[in-house]
Amino acid sequence: MSDKLVFGNISSKEAINLEETYGAHNYHPLPVVLAKGEGAKVWDPEGNEYYDFLSAYSAVNQGHCHPKIINALTDQANILTLTSRAFFNNKLGEYEKFITEFFGYEMVLPMNTGAEAVETAIKLSRKWGYVKKGIEEDKAIIIFAEGNFHGRTITIVSASTDPDCRIGFGPFTPGIEKIPYNDTQALEDILQKRGKNVAAFIVEPIQGEAGVFVPDENYINDCYNICKKHNVLFVADEVQTGIARTGRLLCCDYSGIKPDIVILGKAISGGVLPVSAVLSSKDIMLTIKPGEHGSTFGGFPLACTVAKAALEVVKDENLIKKAETLGNLFRAEMRKIDSPLIQNVRGMGLLNAIIIKPKDGVEAWDVCIKLKENGLLAKPTHQHIIRFAPPLVITKEQLMECVDIIKSTILELS
Ligand SMILES: Cc1ncc(COP(=O)(O)O)c(C=O)c1O
Repeated sequence: MSDKLVFGNISSKEAINLEETYGAHNYHPLPVVLAKGEGAKVWDPEGNEYYDFLSAYSAVNQGHCHPKIINALTDQANILTLTSRAFFNNKLGEYEKFITEFFGYEMVLPMNTGAEAVETAIKLSRKWGYVKKGIEEDKAIIIFAEGNFHGRTITIVSASTDPDCRIGFGPFTPGIEKIPYNDTQALEDILQKRGKNVAAFIVEPIQGEAGVFVPDENYINDCYNICKKHNVLFVADEVQTGIARTGRLLCCDYSGIKPDIVILGKAISGGVLPVSAVLSSKDIMLTIKPGEHGSTFGGFPLACTVAKAALEVVKDENLIKKAETLGNLFRAEMRKIDSPLIQNVRGMGLLNAIIIKPKDGVEAWDVCIKLKENGLLAKPTHQHIIRFAPPLVITKEQLMECVDIIKSTILELS
């Protein structure tokens, strides 16, 4: 590896030192510095090339610096960026029509980060619970699944069961109940007992951060039907699974159901700006009145323009089909690896994980370090699970090259 700089004006070593000295230590990154990205690849300042198998936690589904999205960004940036919602702007309505038609919903509430969109869905569900379902004031309950990841705000970590998310951050928000994931009986039981006060069940169709945990085939469908029976909103958090990642536009499309509320983020903008959205019906959405919810940046003209372009790329480049086909190929190839280090391979579309069985002191982190040395970036989640989620624009040839890198790395460590 040469130390000569190819991209930017500081070395990997300097960049790491600066982050460690001046930045909060709320992440534990792999020791690699990224200075440039294009499609499925990224480069460090010294010019070393890597395949990106994290895609910024599935935000960069359309690939790094997609030219259509970047052109939309720069063109609009020269005209108008932010207006706030104190005034109308000439991009928001057009985008709202586009995104609601794109996903088949009547209305959208635009926000910025995934966590904000989850908070929005919680508020919207509570409001619906009081206004439409007739839940007694301050008694609304939202149900979450154990092992979930919905973001980092206090209310969202109140719904978490992960000690890292919670310890030291109480007291927590009331009105939250947790049931085991992938357990329809648990949902039926709690709704039989307390359904009168339950506004919504919020769930990920695949638990991404938990380690790409794919529930039983009928789970989502059955949960939806149980919610309907008890007049409870079924809310899908598709921040990570949505927008073609799992081989469907929404992962819930596999179940043939239409959630009452869908939460989206990350890839709406192709990883270019923080853009998130809550989609629902008029009946639910209009329970929130002017002045009751919002964000200075939510629905800003720059975001609207970028998001429209990013969603168009998903259609234009057939990314749904690509994720499905390449995902099947990827899992089949992973399952062929004959190594005691691999305990299991799971996933849907291009959201996959291998479960590492630690052997002779080799853990998932060591596998990721070795993968990096061999030119592929992935990150462990929950110690023994490695998520593999490349940009969906990756070609079949590139994917097969990556399969070879993963195979030889695992065999090298076995
Ligand atoms: C399912 C899910 N919901 C919500 C979030 C939070 O999104 P953000 O980090 O943009 O706040 C994430 C982030 O990983 C996620 O995976």
